[in-house]
Amino acid sequence: MKKALICYASRTGKTEKMAKYIAEGLRMKGIDVDIKKISEIESEKQMEGFDAYIFGCPTYHRDMTAGMKTFLFLAEKLNMVGKIGGAFGSYTHSGESAPMIFDTMQFVYKMDMTDLGALSLKEAVVDSGDGAKACQDYGKAIGEKIQ
Ligand SMILES: Cc1cc2nc3c(=O)[nH]c(=O)nc-3n(C[C@H](O)[C@H](O)[C@H](O)COP(=O)(O)O)c2cc1C
Repeated sequence: MKKALICYASRTGKTEKMAKYIAEGLRMKGIDVDIKKISEIESEKQMEGFDAYIFGCPTYHRDMTAGMKTFLFLAEKLNMVGKIGGAFGSYTHSGESAPMIFDTMQFVYKMDMTDLGALSLKEAVVDSGDGAKACQDYGKAIGEKIQ
């Protein structure tokens, strides 16, 4: 069975919600999914052995969080060249975080990123049926790419 790892940061739970919906989409495509908060990852060794990696972080102060930056340096130690990837995050008005993470995964880690780009959702949308569907569809598309 193919495996995907979702790692996320979330202060008030919106990006966490996105992570859970994306996991649902992946599971609908028969992918085994692990979901971890970035605070649970102490070593890159905990991230070894997955077919796809999907990282999420909300936007604060037009940036990703400090914890996410530290996490991305840790993830750099892992060889993810050619692995399938995606990035996501909740925001209210500018939403820089998910596209920045997506770029790092594409250009620094040299991953095979989803053609959909980053999934940035306004937090009001995250709580709606449309938001749940957008996240599930994102997970499904990545699930299809893994197979
Ligand atoms: C102090 C503060 C700064 C924020 N700065 C931004 C910002 O620069 N751009 C933006 O789009 N949203 C900004 N937001 C909104 C958050 O991104 C939004 O509430 C998001 O849904 C939080 O996600 P989380 O629940 O996963 O932490 C800010 C929120 C707070 C409290």
